[in-house]
Amino acid sequence: MLKISGWIWYLALLGLISTAWTIKYEAMDETDPDLDDRFEKANEKSLLWGPYRPNLYLGIRSRLPESLIAGLVWFRADDYSSVGDARHQCDSRDDMETFGWMDYDPRAGGSESIEDTKMGLSLKADFVKTGGGENWGLRVQGTAKDKNAITSLVFYAGTEGKDNALIIRSEKDTPELVHGHEVSFFGYSESLGGPFLLNVTEGRKSRHPKHGVLKDKALDPSKTHHVSLIVPDDNLWKAKDIFFVLLKENMNSIHDVEELKTIPPQEILQLKNPGLNDGNLHLVQKTFKGNFEIVVTFNMMETDDQITVDNFSSRKDSALKRLREKFNRKFQLERPFNKGKYITFAKEILSQLMGGIGYFYGDQLVDRLTNLDEVNTQLDGKPEGPHNLFSCVPSRTFFPRGFYWDEGFQLMPILQYDSDLALDIIKSWFSLIDGSGWIAREQILGEEARSGVPDEFVVQNPNIANPPTMMMIFSQLLHLANHREQFVPTDDFADKFTLNWDGGDGDDTLGDVHLTNPDVLNSYAADIYPKLQLHYEWFRSTQRGDTLGRRCKNLEEIYRWKGRDEDHCLPSGLDDYPRCSADTAELDVDLLSWMGVMTRSMAAIAKLLDETEDAELYSQRLGDIKANLEDLHWSSENQTYCDVTVNDDEEDIFECHLGYVSLMPFVHRLISPDSPHLIHILNDIRNPEKLWTDYGIRSLSKQDEYFHEGEDYWRGHIWVNMNYLILDALYYYGKRPNSTPEVKSLTNEIYTKLRENVVENVYREYRRTGYAWEQYNEETGEGQRTKNFLGWTSLVVLMMKMPESLV
Ligand SMILES: *[C@@H]1O[C@H](CO)[C@@H](O)[C@H](O)[C@H]1NC(C)=O
Ligand SMILES: *[C@@H]1O[C@H](CO)[C@@H](O)[C@H](O)[C@H]1NC(C)=O
Ligand SMILES: *[C@@H]1O[C@H](CO)[C@@H](O)[C@H](O)[C@H]1NC(C)=O
Repeated sequence: MLKISGWIWYLALLGLISTAWTIKYEAMDETDPDLDDRFEKANEKSLLWGPYRPNLYLGIRSRLPESLIAGLVWFRADDYSSVGDARHQCDSRDDMETFGWMDYDPRAGGSESIEDTKMGLSLKADFVKTGGGENWGLRVQGTAKDKNAITSLVFYAGTEGKDNALIIRSEKDTPELVHGHEVSFFGYSESLGGPFLLNVTEGRKSRHPKHGVLKDKALDPSKTHHVSLIVPDDNLWKAKDIFFVLLKENMNSIHDVEELKTIPPQEILQLKNPGLNDGNLHLVQKTFKGNFEIVVTFNMMETDDQITVDNFSSRKDSALKRLREKFNRKFQLERPFNKGKYITFAKEILSQLMGGIGYFYGDQLVDRLTNLDEVNTQLDGKPEGPHNLFSCVPSRTFFPRGFYWDEGFQLMPILQYDSDLALDIIKSWFSLIDGSGWIAREQILGEEARSGVPDEFVVQNPNIANPPTMMMIFSQLLHLANHREQFVPTDDFADKFTLNWDGGDGDDTLGDVHLTNPDVLNSYAADIYPKLQLHYEWFRSTQRGDTLGRRCKNLEEIYRWKGRDEDHCLPSGLDDYPRCSADTAELDVDLLSWMGVMTRSMAAIAKLLDETEDAELYSQRLGDIKANLEDLHWSSENQTYCDVTVNDDEEDIFECHLGYVSLMPFVHRLISPDSPHLIHILNDIRNPEKLWTDYGIRSLSKQDEYFHEGEDYWRGHIWVNMNYLILDALYYYGKRPNSTPEVKSLTNEIYTKLRENVVENVYREYRRTGYAWEQYNEETGEGQRTKNFLGWTSLVVLMMKMPESLV
């Protein structure tokens, strides 16, 4: 009965689909898409699937708002007390010894390792894509420390949207027990382009627990269980909670605690079907004794490059081989890091960063009414959207969502590995821009994302900015493009856009198309330019400082972060760094520097697009910004760049705190190479009583009165993003022809030591603790605050690629 109804559905859907499918296919054939179009299509496809639910240990989805989402839950089934610790969402309480995608390429797939010490399990997951990216396979192999350990796995898949469907094809012995251990689903998805097949099978050597007489045959732990439910789209992400609700039903059926004690847990902790087969959420549960292996394959029906259980291993091996070769080609590490152990470390860090890329979809809470300059403002959000975002995340455990200020840093290593991907992510961010030019600094899209954020941080306000780090990427990209041989299109150019990870001589041009083809780069720039202009003008108008009676080169180029309070300037990104007492008269030196970064990038893009007038305007503004840094922000008494505010007589006074804020004009190369100020900055950087430590540059000078005071977040400890910018600036000033000999020798000395110190320390802590960290202790070098922080800490990979010395 069950089987028949399944097949009727299947046939009906097939009838409907085949016509739609042919029409689409022919329409595609008729037009002859130009280069841009071809690239766009190949790129979309190769990035379609991934572990794009980075908040989960294993969560697969496409980057389409409505298609298929999947995930894995596991737990020890031989113990009632550990079922509550079932693994799903990355959670620091799980105390994983380490976890992350240690080999990963977003266009091909890779491998994740999860050391679940508390559960006595070691998991290895391999994810592979085929057919240019339209098909994928996931294999999970578990090694149990205890040969008799009983582990239960729940793989779930759900379809979102009314045009998508998923039904089970496999025969069933009872409403929940699948015949045999192979489960096969048939699905249809409008957005994915047609019918597909999803199979869940297990490795031949996997064993299931034996049992005696069962209290309830439906709960047989040696069988594969299947359950289907109808779940609203915005609740699919709660699959684990849904699973627990179903388990609870089993428990409730047993009233006698004494009786419960006599039943082995694995004979209760099993899915029992409430009676459906064609809901939009499907759960498959398998329970194993000792080691285990499951394989999930997803294939479009009309594919010519099917992935199967039999050829999974060889595909995985060739994908890994290709990505290691690509890594070695793109990241030739420089001394002393050109050794095996550092190469492995660099590859793991970059892979974990790219394996953390996510796709987010949903509405965002925004308060457009509150005036930020009033005291004690409480934001009151109204939903806007839905929006979608393709983005890196700072930490899969603690910050599994998009952060505007982190993103530019996170994209720097990716830009070197796959510049097309970095640009794709930037495009996604700029698609979020509103009519006024604003982009929310934290992207908390949808219920799932909101569930992990404290209430006070959820609501966004369209007057609040954040450092425009993504603008740095454009300058770097144009630099890369200018230093590369230009690609000459040939007759077989179109073929170059097909990814083939299996054949030895397949082409993997995707990844550098923008860099090697000026047309594609130009078209990207032309597309994004109006948005960048809008965004830039939004910064200029909303963050403008008060002119008062001030004197400087140009009173239009003075800035103040809006939306801060007395103790925090969250918009600056450096939350508790000491600033002026909050006042509308304040001018912020870091913001003026970021405006310099933005203006410089705008000039470069305008030049690329032959927008001569714009380019001139931006260049002139950049000149004004540089002049204002000197006129307004340099304190000759303190010999450093400082914030400015006014005293009781309405006169400008400096607020000086040596550290990351005061270094901003330097790190962004806004000081002239022959400026006498450079030497003072370099001397502060190398002074151990001020900024220098053996593990990197401190965020705040040891001599500042707020050093380690209060929350002590940006008040002394070491951050890798700023250390990267410092290195980059040392390199820049060390190489200028018009730098003084003194600057040249100082920069070289500091650069060489700093690069080694930072990389060595992050490496040492990674090996010692299993993780990359949010910040490093300035006294001991130990990783601290958030662990599993593969966001900007991954910039160490670029540091290793930088030359050992400047001479
Ligand atoms: C994998 O198996 C499928 C089905 O047998 C086949 O179509 C495909 O060509 C195979 N691929 C490789 C690389 O062996
Ligand atoms: C999926 O399972 C079905 C039914 O067992 C089988 O016919 C099909 O070949 C399988 N597909 C793949 C790609 O393994
Ligand atoms: C130097 O910095 C200190 C600390 O912020 C400040 O009090 C002092 O006014 C500064 N000196 C000048 C001349 O601005």
